Amino acid sequence: MFGSIRIVPDRASLARTGAELFARLALEAVEIRGTFRAALAGGSTPRDLYEALAAGTASGERPLPWSDIQLYWGDERHVPPDHPESNYRMVKEALLTRVPIPGANIHRIRGEEPDPRIAAAHLEAELIETFGLAANESPRFDLILLGMGADGHTASLFPGSAALESRRLAEAVWVEPLSTHRITLTPRVINNARCVVFLVAGTDKAETLRLVLGDEVDPRRFPAQIVRPVDGDCLWLADAAAARRLPSSGREGTPA
Ligand code: 6PG
Repeated sequence: MFGSIRIVPDRASLARTGAELFARLALEAVEIRGTFRAALAGGSTPRDLYEALAAGTASGERPLPWSDIQLYWGDERHVPPDHPESNYRMVKEALLTRVPIPGANIHRIRGEEPDPRIAAAHLEAELIETFGLAANESPRFDLILLGMGADGHTASLFPGSAALESRRLAEAVWVEPLSTHRITLTPRVINNARCVVFLVAGTDKAETLRLVLGDEVDPRRFPAQIVRPVDGDCLWLADAAAARRLPSSGREGTPA
């Protein structure tokens, strides 16, 4: 297993714990570096976390410095921003319309681009510009939130995907099982983060989580295993349902 794991009782505590961690890292980063840059996970699991952040209780008495927080996405579906499947729309509804974050701080992926390769190129250009990257330099996010699919994918890095070996910052990928394109950050970016947090909930993830955290490492089969930050933390935040197949030795965290 790479990283550490913390097991919490249920989805509500997963959301609360994740929001509190987001808030702590944000306050620390802004205090140290004047800004906090995070890439958000899509899908359904993190929605409650974003709603907990919007509620404003995750940072105790201290309001979050939204004007110093820059939000990106780890991946996006090949749909317009108002589409029900859009990760941007999910975050907008759960968080962005409820906190005073400046529009310029929101760096959504252009899922509406007819050619997803254009969307990936735009994301790459925006990373280079907003992080002020030199040639061949990777952006270093303060936090990247990730989910994990029951097939072991993360972001939009799916089993067998060529994006797993990409040297670019972002890729457009065809996902055969879903018959759709996606746009995703690459392992090069994810593994350059200061902190990566996986949010995994539900019994349908239990067997995959057992295999992903097990001793057999095969990132082409389980892309989540490719996430090994070179100089950063990796935390697996799982509810008891998702963690129920883990051996007791793997259950380093105890339910909060
Ligand atoms: C997406 C996500 C994807 C997601 C996993 C888990 O665009 O769907 O980026 O990687 O995190 O599929 O999704 P759930 O949280 O819905 O189980």
